[in-house]
Amino acid sequence: MQANPGNAIGVFDSGVGGLTVVRALMERLPFEDIIYFGDTARVPYGVKSVETISHYTREIAEFLLQKQVKLLIIACNTMAAVASQVVKDLSPVPVLDVIDAGALGAIAATSRRQVGIIGTPTTINSNAYARAIHQYEPDVRIFSQACPLFVPLVEEGWLDHPVTRLTAQEYLKPVLAQDIDTMVLGCTHYPLLKPLLQEVAGSGVKLVDSAEAMAEETAALLAELNLANPQRSQPDYQFYVTDVPLRFQTIGERFLGRTLSNVHVVKW
Ligand code: DGL
Repeated sequence: MQANPGNAIGVFDSGVGGLTVVRALMERLPFEDIIYFGDTARVPYGVKSVETISHYTREIAEFLLQKQVKLLIIACNTMAAVASQVVKDLSPVPVLDVIDAGALGAIAATSRRQVGIIGTPTTINSNAYARAIHQYEPDVRIFSQACPLFVPLVEEGWLDHPVTRLTAQEYLKPVLAQDIDTMVLGCTHYPLLKPLLQEVAGSGVKLVDSAEAMAEETAALLAELNLANPQRSQPDYQFYVTDVPLRFQTIGERFLGRTLSNVHVVKW
């Protein structure tokens, strides 16, 4: 398949969380069309097996490739952690993933080479961030922590809530004890907790938002491959989901930071 600059960027995630990446892309690349796929019927992926996640990931990538996207972005850290090779093996168009973007962001941010990574249990168990960082900078020290309660707390909208603050203090205690100078928010949901996490981590710790890092990497790749959309009109955004659960609209709009329209339900 020949990638065409006028085609849309395909972005996918296990559910609504990847809308944080879409939001960063909309801000950084305001003339690009985007087709988003969120597997809202099967979320969460963060506690599932590698085999199951790989199987779901393949189905979603194939769906988006049929829509003639010019680039695939794996917005879900969990999918990127365990199944990015599945996508790269089948895709005729370039593939970017949040873990590589977050790893590069951490390398750029760290001053003392002491980096904390937080994410879902599957992402942390995969060690994917450590591998990605060490591929570029082998001497960076990595301290990881799974934070499984953050996803439901964010979906509950408890972004600045005593329960979330207490949970964050508990989760971050071991990584902060390692005197980290940088912490990667290695999950689609965590950018919404940025102010609270910054407060808990303290001003001496730089937070790397993998959604923003992803948007930067996308802009650089489109420029390098001459794939940036030359149109200067209003872009087209389409959202495909596998279910419309209760509160989908409210939660989706919280992640996207704007009204969520053009939502299509896919049954397969
Ligand atoms: N999108 C997932 C991630 O970034 C979080 C939600 C889930 O567990 O599916 O890891």
